[in-house]
Amino acid sequence: YPKAFIYDLDGIITDTAEFHFLAWQKLADEIGIPIDRKFNEQLKGINRMDSLDRILKLGTSGRVLSDSEKMTLATRKNEYYLELIESINPSHILPGIELLLQKNKQQHIKIALGSASNNAPAILDKLQLTGYFDYIVDASKVKKGKPDPETFTTAAAALGVAPDECVGIEDAAAGVESINSAGMFSVAVGDVHHLAAADYLVEDTAQLIFEDIIAHYGKR
Ligand code: G6P
Ligand code: MG
Repeated sequence: YPKAFIYDLDGIITDTAEFHFLAWQKLADEIGIPIDRKFNEQLKGINRMDSLDRILKLGTSGRVLSDSEKMTLATRKNEYYLELIESINPSHILPGIELLLQKNKQQHIKIALGSASNNAPAILDKLQLTGYFDYIVDASKVKKGKPDPETFTTAAAALGVAPDECVGIEDAAAGVESINSAGMFSVAVGDVHHLAAADYLVEDTAQLIFEDIIAHYGKR
């Protein structure tokens, strides 16, 4: 058995990936740089400022914004996002997730969060899942966001588990890259066009079956 499972939050534990998209889309419309779902795949797993930079790069005006102008835009996006997550509750935990956490506990497998979000601890609280986690990595704990491995290596180090005994679970291409370059077993949820680099891919979180993950981990 692996010794630790490290979970991404947005799009894995709950569908806040959609709320991030809606909040960025609202901001992007306001600044005249419309984005669509296809472009949004490039924003998944990417921290707030890097996401804003990617959106601004799409714009044609070419005007370079100052750091304080960027901060204002990033803060405004977060305000839209906070409105969207305000009413999150345990009914918003995605299918299969709580059972997987319970199986981890039963087998004495350590559990960490590996999220790029500043809002991660508050969301875990709203979902009433904080108690499952031995360690939480959020944006404040890392210098280099995904696809850099730091998010996942920081979690493994805090748990005292070697990378090759960790399973990482992600819905973002940048996240899978992060897990793979950390030397961990990557499980991805979503579509093969974006997530082909994963060691094991399923279509939705209901298919995150503990025994199946273990079987594939064993064959790696
Ligand atoms: C996660 C999400 C990204 C989001 C990032 C920062 O990685 O997948 O879409 O941009 O967290 O979130 P924050 O809540 O700090 O703006
Ligand atoms: Mg995600």
